Amino acid sequence: MSGIIELEGVRKTYRSGSIEFEALRGIDTTIAEGEYVAVIGPSGSGKSTLMNILGCLDTPSEGRYLLAGEDVSQMGEAQLAEVRNRRIGFVFQQFNLLAMLPAWRNVELPLVYAGVPRAERRERAVAALGRVGLADRIDNRPGELSGGQQQRVAVARALVTEPAMILADEPTGNLDSQSTTDVLALLDELHAAGRTIVLITHEHEVAARASRNLVIRDGAITSDEPVGALA
Ligand SMILES: Nc1ncnc2c1ncn2[C@@H]1O[C@H](COP(=O)(O)OP(=O)(O)O)[C@@H](O)[C@H]1O
Ligand SMILES: [Mg+2]
Repeated sequence: MSGIIELEGVRKTYRSGSIEFEALRGIDTTIAEGEYVAVIGPSGSGKSTLMNILGCLDTPSEGRYLLAGEDVSQMGEAQLAEVRNRRIGFVFQQFNLLAMLPAWRNVELPLVYAGVPRAERRERAVAALGRVGLADRIDNRPGELSGGQQQRVAVARALVTEPAMILADEPTGNLDSQSTTDVLALLDELHAAGRTIVLITHEHEVAARASRNLVIRDGAITSDEPVGALA
């Protein structure tokens, strides 16, 4: 098997005192480059736990996780932080933008952490904002933008490092229906342009936009199906 994301026997056990809870009970899956995968499941099924592992925010208790060929399952915090910044673009339900900074400064932040020189950072941030349709908003602060525009800034920030994967956790959870439509159309475009996208959602309409749906229930994958034109 070969994919940009490979999970083998991934388990996650939470321990508090003498109480143990197995939130992931053996996840095996491969995601190929360019796939658009939605992970869908009810509240408490293990979506956030899986997202934290995929996003290198946490490591499995057991099993292996290869990201772009690199085994990240045994890494310590410093190494994980480096992989996160280099390989993953995050889009969260809360846009997580810094209110004091204009859009382009928010977008360049991952490049600051990556040590990219200043002039190149600005150029790449402006280009990423152009790709999400905000070329005319580069100097606006988040408070001067609509919710949908703020989420597009967050998508530009996720893109600017050219990550192996865009990981979106309920990206439309805080948006009105028009902004939801805009952000989903943007994800469609990125998918069409060859980006690998993993989207976590509990909404079937959102999941239906992906090319593949992974259904998770009680910490296990219960269904793994192509959707849309591929179904
Ligand atoms: N830090 C934790 N300690 C103990 N149990 C946890 C912890 N985080 C999540 N859980 C439990 O693991 C299960 C899966 O949680 P989660 O991954 O947040 O599900 P979802 O995102 O699908 O709602 C839930 O039963 C939850 O209570
Ligand atoms: Mg959750």
